[in-house]
Amino acid sequence: EQIEKNGYDHFMLKEIYEQPEAIKDTYRGRLRINDGIIKMAGVEDNLEKFLNAKRIIIVACGTSWHAGLVAEYIFEELVRVPVEVEYASEFRYRNPIVGPGDVVIAISQSGETADTLAAIKLSKEKGAFVFGVCNVVGSTISRETHAGAYTHAGPEIGVASTKAFTTQITVLTLIALKLAKSTGKITNSEFHNYLAEMEVIPNKVEETLKSDEHVAAIADIYKDAGNCLYLGRGYNFPVALEGALKLKEISYIHAEGYPAAEMKHGPIALIDEQMPVIVIATKKGHYEKVVSNVQEIKSRKGKIIAVVTKGDKDVSALADHVIEVPETDELLTPLLTTIPLQLLSYHIAVMRGCNVDQPRNLAKSVTVE
Ligand code: G6P
Repeated sequence: EQIEKNGYDHFMLKEIYEQPEAIKDTYRGRLRINDGIIKMAGVEDNLEKFLNAKRIIIVACGTSWHAGLVAEYIFEELVRVPVEVEYASEFRYRNPIVGPGDVVIAISQSGETADTLAAIKLSKEKGAFVFGVCNVVGSTISRETHAGAYTHAGPEIGVASTKAFTTQITVLTLIALKLAKSTGKITNSEFHNYLAEMEVIPNKVEETLKSDEHVAAIADIYKDAGNCLYLGRGYNFPVALEGALKLKEISYIHAEGYPAAEMKHGPIALIDEQMPVIVIATKKGHYEKVVSNVQEIKSRKGKIIAVVTKGDKDVSALADHVIEVPETDELLTPLLTTIPLQLLSYHIAVMRGCNVDQPRNLAKSVTVE
């Protein structure tokens, strides 16, 4: 096992650090900048179905569901098609309205999650076209779907999903870009810019990982917190949900993710000097609004840990701790902002003496309903 961990203390940390390579493996062979194309056979073979879709329904569980939420924002922005993201378990038990003309995208790292599988079977029975985004090659879901695209993240052992999440977002972004190009929803030059930015994302993830020690120092300050709030807007709202899930899963600290603007409708009542609030406040992304959210937290004495774009001034002036990520296209920021949140959960869990790779009561793959 020590050999498999490749010198890292835990699989989770190894997998966090594998993300630059994993993302590269995900787009390798697909992102063809010189030819100005994205090559994805599963999408190309079914292009008409995607292009004629009245809507796209994404079904998934857990972290994969969060990747689905990021994809919802990306698809709607780039492809201008309505997207619904459903918990597979809710979808399957409520006689869903789905049928011919609908494209269902099922996201699953393991490809074995029982609820997701059941949602796929139901969608197929009702006549929808079902596309899988799986990591495990040859898994049940990859076989049960009509077509699909693998994430190629390599084996993920840690129960808390990390590289599966960022590679799922990568695959889904590639699909969205490909469809947007096919329908002329984005110009060739926009398409080319996205491709070029996607290509350098692994370097930017690498750079983001350099915040590790700094994040560990922050973890040391907040490791005994009883609660934590995570806030983000737009593309980074699902990142807030994912950050909170990671903390809950491995450190057993109660955490909630919220859209930053919803704070005033409830969570703000919880804020006092005991409450760490992790705010994702990258440039663009309604930045000014986030600044005012941060001011509200500050005036209630909450402790602010802000994830900001390199060189940020406004939020940094208000926050107790600042973690910088490199600048990128707004749509790609989740691939960077997720990294420090993974590291924060990891370090807090280690400091609390938790079993990081095998948290209590959780399974890597949930094959029961
Ligand atoms: C379990 C795992 C999570 C995962 C979820 C969905 O709860 O602990 O990490 O996100 O299942 O799994 P899947 O394999 O379908 O992505």
